[in-house]
Amino acid sequence: MTTVQLATAAFISHRRNPGYYPNMVLPRHMNVPANMGRLRGQAGSPAAPAAARAAGSLHHKDCLRGVFTFIYTRSAAYRVLPAAVEFERIDMPNLFDAFTLRGVVIRNRLAVSPMCMYSSHEGLAGDWHLVHLGSRAVGGWGLIICEATAVAPEGRISPHDAGLWRDEHIAPLARINRFIKTYGGTPAIQLAHAGRKGSTERLFNTTQPGAALSPERGGWQVVGPSPIAFDDRSPAPHELNLAEIKQIQGAFVAAAQRAIEAGYELVEIHAAHGYLLHEFLSPLCNHRGDAYGGSFDNRVRMVLETTEAVRAAWPDKLPLAVRLSCSDWTDGGWSLEDSVELARRLKAIGVDIIDCSSGGAVPHAKIPVGPGYQVPFAAAIRQQADIATGAVGMITDATAASEIIASGKADLVLMARQALREPYLPVHAARQMHAASGPQLPGQYGRA
Ligand SMILES: Cc1cc2nc3c(=O)[nH]c(=O)nc-3n(C[C@H](O)[C@H](O)[C@H](O)COP(=O)(O)O)c2cc1C
Repeated sequence: MTTVQLATAAFISHRRNPGYYPNMVLPRHMNVPANMGRLRGQAGSPAAPAAARAAGSLHHKDCLRGVFTFIYTRSAAYRVLPAAVEFERIDMPNLFDAFTLRGVVIRNRLAVSPMCMYSSHEGLAGDWHLVHLGSRAVGGWGLIICEATAVAPEGRISPHDAGLWRDEHIAPLARINRFIKTYGGTPAIQLAHAGRKGSTERLFNTTQPGAALSPERGGWQVVGPSPIAFDDRSPAPHELNLAEIKQIQGAFVAAAQRAIEAGYELVEIHAAHGYLLHEFLSPLCNHRGDAYGGSFDNRVRMVLETTEAVRAAWPDKLPLAVRLSCSDWTDGGWSLEDSVELARRLKAIGVDIIDCSSGGAVPHAKIPVGPGYQVPFAAAIRQQADIATGAVGMITDATAASEIIASGKADLVLMARQALREPYLPVHAARQMHAASGPQLPGQYGRA
């Protein structure tokens, strides 16, 4: 076995999965040999020999088979060192590696981002939710986050939002979660209060999508840190007093307790997208003069107190996430630096992962939307606050997701719209990437 043949083995692996092992480099003099087809045929060879697993110098033909097997089944790649017989093993997480947070093992790094379905009656989940979330479990997603679920009726965006403010909400969610777990997914729920962005028409089956809903038409008085309307179509919110703030914090705790009953394994607190908790964070919507407004310490108080109270109620063995809008994309607004500091404080009170989104506080923000545009937030918070992160936003294929995970920019990749388009993306991607450890279709679909 020559150096060239060994390197070629790695080269084929790299070419078949561009971006999958982005750290792999090749000596410039490397040519693709005539026996490429034969080498490719060995990609599915059985267990790697121990010598290859040791990942030192590889001199033997069997080791070549081992390299292939190892590359496809383990969280490692090999850097080919120019003019050497050696492959250097590079430890890097793989999209299909399990991810453990506290006592919960998520089967892979692909998560369904929370998405409002506006399909509930009085907050109750129904058959739509079972099929929507259940089919993502069948499709192989690791973490499946149920939509923004209101902790109080006034915390809904629209009258059709999901809720968890009554015990009656628990049973239909528990049914969905039993299904998700049966098919290997980890059920999670995003707990939310819409604040000043509540009381609107839903986005479909209506003549005025997203328009403010007056109390006469089934709407309600919206609330916020300060009486500042979101835009000129929206009403000014009622400024919450201290007793009302405590009441809302209590509603988050009660909803988290119901989430335990419903069988959730992760709770995400929604502090993004211009909804109530984000409104407290952002100087653009929080003009309070009391302990909940003004300085950074005061603006983060609502999020920290709410999170701390939820953490105390949520079992130690289960992880807690917070979704942040890491930038308001507006001068004078909430910034990435603010997010890093808040993430450090959230970590200190028992938060396990920050879900890094952005925007939503004000309508006039100029957001540079494009592929992966929020990934730098996840990378910066992960590095600077030393906490696990989720990356989200225009990540639409497994190759891009792999690169994010393997290069250490985030621990999870969340997809929203792509998960709607391609509910089975993880099982398809695992097949295309020959990832033996990836999710597979259940037996019922085994012949597909
Ligand atoms: C239909 C739909 C509903 C959404 N509802 C929520 C939600 O309930 N909570 C939330 O934090 N984000 C929500 N989002 C935002 C997504 O979770 C995600 O952050 C955003 O769409 C960017 O990801 P993408 O480019 O993969 O779609 C929603 C997005 C869509 C498309």
